[in-house]
Amino acid sequence: MISDVRLLTGKAELAQAARTFRTAMVGLPPLGPIDDDFLEKLFEPDRTWGAFDGEALVGTTDSYSGRIVVPGGAWLPQAAVTHVGVLPTHTRRGAATALFKAQLRAAREQGEAAATLRASDARIYSNFGYAIANTSVSFEVDKQRARLRRKVSTDKIRLINIDDAWATQARIYAGQPAPRAGVIARSPYWWDFQALRQAQGGTPSYVAVHGEEGSETGFVRYHPVGLDSWFTSSERTIVVDDIVAYDPDAYVALVAHLLAVDLPHRIVFWSRPADDLLPWLFEDFRSVRVSAARDETWLRLLDAEKALTARSYAGQGSVVLEVSDAILPENATRLRLSPEGAERTNLSAAVVTDVAAVSAAYLGGVKWWQLAQTGRLGDFDRAAVETLDTLFTAPALPHSGTMF
Ligand SMILES: CC(C)(COP(=O)(O)OP(=O)(O)OC[C@H]1O[C@@H](n2cnc3c(N)ncnc32)[C@H](O)[C@@H]1OP(=O)(O)O)[C@@H](O)C(=O)NCCC(=O)NCCS
Repeated sequence: MISDVRLLTGKAELAQAARTFRTAMVGLPPLGPIDDDFLEKLFEPDRTWGAFDGEALVGTTDSYSGRIVVPGGAWLPQAAVTHVGVLPTHTRRGAATALFKAQLRAAREQGEAAATLRASDARIYSNFGYAIANTSVSFEVDKQRARLRRKVSTDKIRLINIDDAWATQARIYAGQPAPRAGVIARSPYWWDFQALRQAQGGTPSYVAVHGEEGSETGFVRYHPVGLDSWFTSSERTIVVDDIVAYDPDAYVALVAHLLAVDLPHRIVFWSRPADDLLPWLFEDFRSVRVSAARDETWLRLLDAEKALTARSYAGQGSVVLEVSDAILPENATRLRLSPEGAERTNLSAAVVTDVAAVSAAYLGGVKWWQLAQTGRLGDFDRAAVETLDTLFTAPALPHSGTMF
């Protein structure tokens, strides 16, 4: 029985939330003591929700305030939702439902136009208006075959000590000149968590930067896997955890650096956009293969009007789109979309959609025709769906590259 859902306050409640989440997730590696330092690094104040059975905290979720890049390059305020967990003794009693409803409404009231998350289970979030907005792929590079088409100098590459590297990575990440749609701002909480996980994890990690100190134009962070047999293995692998490059020159130089690391046989880039340059960098296209493809950003528009006004539209034509929202009725809107932008209208709608479908299409990673042909639109006019796809066209696929 869920008796109460409310924002948590105080360190004792936050510590309990951290334990509840970890118990619900079952398989997360230990992160050291849940002390004051841990709580300050993990939780943004006043954003952690708890579901109670009497005095017992049985479910939780929290989020970080932030921003996401939308097509056209604007930054939209968003809530990065995470740490969702209900104790196995209290599942399927509506705890998560009550938590999500409270969380989504509060985020909208604070001006956040979208919520995004990464899902460990793909069956839950569509109940709450979220939808998969893009996919992310892993690439595996066979170092024996990989020869770069462009010969680049790696003179501007410097290795920096991982313990001193977090602020530098954060600075380079934040300075990206033209991030693609789907990129999110990384909060100090996110960076602190990476550092904590690295410190607790016991696996070495390396950071190489490109450019002079203070004016770097990229970095890569990577770690080895399979340490037990590393010395004699013929399948040594390094995994790229993070790579940021301001331009193709920096990207190629960072890849060249990875190829220059002698011992590994394979390089795995764990999360890249499906239209990444990587496979095209090599003389032999088959020196790179896609080793995994998975859903990345789950997105839910909280203020559809604000969000659809913030992004840009391509091509020509216009469509009246009506959005409904069963959980946040105040989010319902009817807008005329055209290359000039989005504006509220009383004209009748050519396409009617619930919030999940428009959230899927919002970043440009899912096509309107895919939504139409899979029965995810309400009433729609076929020609209007084609026009929507033209309007939502963007030069690059959306991708975040940030796990949280
Ligand atoms: C996923 C989880 C948070 C759901 O919590 P819950 O309190 O049981 O969810 P609710 O009772 O509010 O149910 C929410 C809805 O989602 C559905 N749902 C929840 N978990 C589901 C699952 N694993 N599979 C299928 N449907 C599920 C429910 O059936 C319900 O839909 P309905 O209202 O149409 O019946 C909980 O099971 C959990 O903590 N799991 C382990 C940790 C985890 O997966 N966290 C997510 C991290 S991304």
